[in-house]
Parts: sequence; C-alpha cells; structure tokens
Amino acid sequence: MPVSCVQIQALPQHIDEEVVVRGWMYNKRSSGKIHFLQLRDGSGFVQAVMVKNEVAEEEFENAKNLWFEACLEVTGKVRADQRAPSGVELSVTALKVLHNPTEEYPIGKKEHGIDFLLDLRHLWLRSQRQHAIMKIREQVIWTTREYLRNNGFLLVDSPIITGSIGEGASGLFDLDYFDMGKAYLAQTGQLYAEAAAAAYGKVYTFGPTFRAEKSKTRRHLTEFWMVEPEVAFYDHEDNMHLQENLVSAIVEQVLLHCGKELALLERNVEPLKKVVPPFYRITYDDAVKKLHSLGSDIRYGEDFGNDDETILTQQYDKPVFVECYPKKVKAFYMKEHPTNPDLVLCDDLLAPEGYGEIIGGSQREDDMERLVARIREQGLPEESYTWYLDLRRYGTFIHSGFGMGIERVVAWICGLQHIREAIPWPRTIYRLNP
Ligand code: 4AD
Ligand code: MG
Repeated sequence: MPVSCVQIQALPQHIDEEVVVRGWMYNKRSSGKIHFLQLRDGSGFVQAVMVKNEVAEEEFENAKNLWFEACLEVTGKVRADQRAPSGVELSVTALKVLHNPTEEYPIGKKEHGIDFLLDLRHLWLRSQRQHAIMKIREQVIWTTREYLRNNGFLLVDSPIITGSIGEGASGLFDLDYFDMGKAYLAQTGQLYAEAAAAAYGKVYTFGPTFRAEKSKTRRHLTEFWMVEPEVAFYDHEDNMHLQENLVSAIVEQVLLHCGKELALLERNVEPLKKVVPPFYRITYDDAVKKLHSLGSDIRYGEDFGNDDETILTQQYDKPVFVECYPKKVKAFYMKEHPTNPDLVLCDDLLAPEGYGEIIGGSQREDDMERLVARIREQGLPEESYTWYLDLRRYGTFIHSGFGMGIERVVAWICGLQHIREAIPWPRTIYRLNP
C-alpha cells in the first residue's frame, strides 16, 4: 500500500517507498515514451517521471493531454536524485487526473507585463518566485514576533476603525460610522500602543494600516502591515538600539532559514550578511549637506523624496539612521529636541542598496502643554485626543517606539523592484482587485 498523501517537502523521508502525492502540474516535457511532470503542492516542487511501459496505457495517454495547472494525484516510488533541487524524483506507477482544465492557463513561461500578472494575482501566487517571496515574508513576521516575545514584549492589538487621527489629516480613509460621524481606518496603531505601554511596559501592535496618499512610487501601498513596538522608559537612543537589533535578527534568520528562496530570487546575499549592529547614523542636517554634495536639490526643512533616499542609501553598505528631523515635517507626537526646538527626537531607518525607509520612530512628547500645542498647530481635532492626553495627565513617562513596514522590509531583503510583490494582495491607488 502506498503511503497516502505525502507532502512534497517530506518526500526525502520516504526514499524507495511508494507514496501518493496530490498537487498541480506547473510544467511538463514529453518525449514519445516518457513524460516529465513538474508538480507542486505548496510545500515544494518535484519532478514525476512517467515511463510508457510502467503505467497503465490509458493513464499514459491521459497524461499527454494535460494542461498546465491540472490537479493530479500521482502514485509513485520516491527515488533519491542528487541533481534534483528537491533531492528526489518520483517514478510514477499510477496517475489519477483530479481536474484537467479545458483551457490554457493564462500565465505562460514567457515574460508577462506587471499589470497582466497583478490582474491575475490569484493565479500568479502559484509561481515559484511568488512562493519564495511569501516564505520570506512569513519568516520576517515570525522572527519579528519571536524576537519581541523573547525580549519581554506583550502583543496588544489596536483597532482598525478609529476616531482619532494617528499620523496626519492628509492620507486618511474615512467612513460613515452610524450616528457618530466620521471614523477613520488606522494609519498607525501607535497612539494605542502608547496607552498599552503605560499599562504593560514593553508592548507592540501588529496589523494592517491604511494610507490614502496618492503615491505612485515603488515603495507605497494603500494597505500595508506594520509592527509597532512601544516601550516605557526608552529614550531616543534606546529606541534606535532596539531597531538595529530587531532588523539584524530578521536578516540573520532569513539568511539561516530561507537560503533556497533567496537563491531562487537571485538575491545577492553578500550585502545582507553585513547587516549587523551598529548601523550608521547621520543627522538630518548632515544628510541634507551630503545630498547637496551628491547633486540633490532638496531644500533644508523638506522631508526626503524617494530619489533622495535612494541616493543617500547608496552611500552605505548597511542600514543608516537619519536622526532629528525638523519638527515641521514630522507628526505631532514626536518629542522636541532638548537643545533645538525646531527639531524632534526621531529617526528614520533607511535600508541600503537604494531601498530607503523601512522604519519611522521617535521618542514621544511626554509634556502635556507642548503636546496640546502641537495638536493645535497641526489643526487636529483636539476633542478626539482626550483619551490620548490622559496618558500625559496620569503618570506621564518617557517613552519611545517605532513602526516597521513589513512589505518594505520584505522588498529589501528579497531584492524586489517594487513593493507590490511583497504582499499577497496589493492595494495601490490603481488596484483594488483581486
Ligand atoms: O513613518 P511612518 O508613517 O510612522 C508611523 O506610522 C508611526 N506612527 C510609527 C510609530 O512610531 N509607531 O510609518 C512607519 C513605517 C515606514 O517606515 C514604512 O516602513 C511603512 O511604515 N510605511 C509604508 N509602507 C508601505 N506603504 C506605505 N504607504 C507606507 N507608509 C509607511
Ligand atoms: Mg516615515
């Protein structure tokens, strides 16, 4: 009796046994007397070799007419094969066709345009390349959670439907909330993380966040996943240490567990091996000077554009912190710099190789009066921050935190051209389907 329904990734544990594998045929080569069926089942990829005289005649004939992505049940003997990427091959003894499509699979072996592939995202996810990206994404998320848990952080989920504006009034998705007027989709979980930090010390939130900015760059999604640690009694300096340690742990674990996937993506891993603390640091002021010397026309006091980030990160062989931006380009909650009231105690962490910002973080304004002044300056509705101001009213405390965009990190580690491949179902200003 064959071993029933073995996952492809487990085949090496069944050498010389007869097994049943269920999956989809993503490629096929045939010569008159032999079919090479390439199978995938989500756990891996394997070649099934079907020789004319070793299977029922009808089954051999059926295999001739298979279309790509036919769903199959293959019985076969597992053979060790050093040349195969999976280390094994299947010698087919029986083939059951569970479903043979009646039309050609739309994604072929030739090059397709990106919009065509995104329209077919529900099918494109089946490809080896997308599989590799999703595995690395999962590793990034897994390591993030593991690292934070092992370092004493408590996960405290924050709401997605909110009444207060987290980052700024532009770029909000709003909705009508019963009789209560406007509600917003969360741009960030930070304000809630701050409340949780006052309750539990070291915390993080992790969930989808939403930005209605009309950005059409290779770095922007309208829906993306953000992890946001927040720590009581951490200052700006402690905050940056946490960031460089977390990012280094993520890269280290991806290198350790996802070598096959990185190779499939043809990612040069040498730059990734350099990602160890300490990261480089530069102040905003010095970064602007450096950008000028590199030909940028950025004006002092502006936030960096995508091109500026690209130019800047190309100067460094590992991530670089840009610290202490002008107050007027940053969010209301950032703490004023102790010696220069025009600046705030914040950092953006930029990934190398032209990737740019993967983290935005800051020490938070713990002074009630200054915070209220900032809310007014930015024209935010003060009444919806009553609860947030309570955190300054009842035992205000030094605290800091940051937000790391999962897709930005995945795009960088995988070496992707565009962030939209780093999430299963990208949402951009042009895309709502599938
Ligand atoms: O710099 P941002 O806007 O910071 C915040 O939202 C803070 N409240 C975080 C905090 O301190 N708790 O966003 C943080 C990160 C960015 O560095 C980037 O990685 C990612 O979120 N991000 C985006 N990713 C994809 N598409 C977008 N439109 C993004 N906007 C921000
Ligand atoms: Mg930012």
